[in-house]
Amino acid sequence: MEPINLNDYEILAQTRMDPTAWDFYQGGSDDEVTLRANRTAFERIRLRPRMLVDVSNLELSTTVLGTPVSMPVIVAPTAYQCMAHPEGECATAQGVGMARTLMTASTFATRSVEEIANAASGPLWFQLYTYRTPELSEMVIRRAEAAGYRAIVLTADLPRLGNRERDIRNNFVLPPHLQLANFAGIDLDDYIAVPYNLTWDSLDWLRTITSLPILVKGILTAEDAQIALDRGVSGIIVSNHGGRQLDTALTGIEALPEIVEAVAGRCEVYVDGGIRRGTDVLKALALGARAVMVGRPILWGLAVNGAEGVHHVLE
Ligand code: FNR
Repeated sequence: MEPINLNDYEILAQTRMDPTAWDFYQGGSDDEVTLRANRTAFERIRLRPRMLVDVSNLELSTTVLGTPVSMPVIVAPTAYQCMAHPEGECATAQGVGMARTLMTASTFATRSVEEIANAASGPLWFQLYTYRTPELSEMVIRRAEAAGYRAIVLTADLPRLGNRERDIRNNFVLPPHLQLANFAGIDLDDYIAVPYNLTWDSLDWLRTITSLPILVKGILTAEDAQIALDRGVSGIIVSNHGGRQLDTALTGIEALPEIVEAVAGRCEVYVDGGIRRGTDVLKALALGARAVMVGRPILWGLAVNGAEGVHHVLE
């Protein structure tokens, strides 16, 4: 099958991947109610199309925190990309660069921030998970700064890991030939086997150690958007972590209007979760998002055809 849409990539990717790794990529928490809702919420929204508008010239390019990108679609951080392809995050960076948009690299990448930056031809953001020891976070932020990353994305919705029952059944662990490349040689068990040290104060702490713009990812209410603004963030990513954290939480696209209203233009607002079609992007933009993020479809493209697959998924 020649894939012509993201659903085709999903089907093909499953045939290329180890079933345990596939479950890790696809799965959500508890009963996966929120995971499914991420799709149905988009399907429920109907467009109200206007006719006889000149569409002979289409311009999709925009900016995200001032950085030009070819379209209002950027790449969400996802962990463990070497499970999809031997080049992992480096191939993703190449494919995203070919599409002339932006990649967010995960703290839990299987290639280091430096390796990803060397492979990349486009702009990068660095997604941060914090640790019990702040020195460890600081170390990786310094390295991301030195490697040219343009913003830090603090993920707020993972104070503890979601209850992902597919992974529990499969006894999922990162395959032994792969590693958390940002922490090579460091025994992480002491640091990440405990609840992360993550509160609103983490934003103030982050401000003391970096001058890069800070985005907060995983916000789902106007109340939290207001607190994030008070703490000086440059961007808010409305997200339920792809249905992998708090099951039955509302979807990003459902939460977006109240957050856009609360923010009232004071920072950029992004949304992710279940975006699979151009019409999904259109709905998010119409409801006030600056751009959207995509997660799993990038992993599917990577599994099917490396950098070219990532490029094709984005195109
Ligand atoms: C994620 N996500 C995620 N988020 C984050 O901030 N840091 C991370 O390391 C990861 N890792 C990760 C792994 C996998 C396999 C998935 C599927 C997701 C969440 C991700 O950034 C994003 O919010 C969702 O993936 C968006 O939903 P879709 O596009 O996958 O439906």
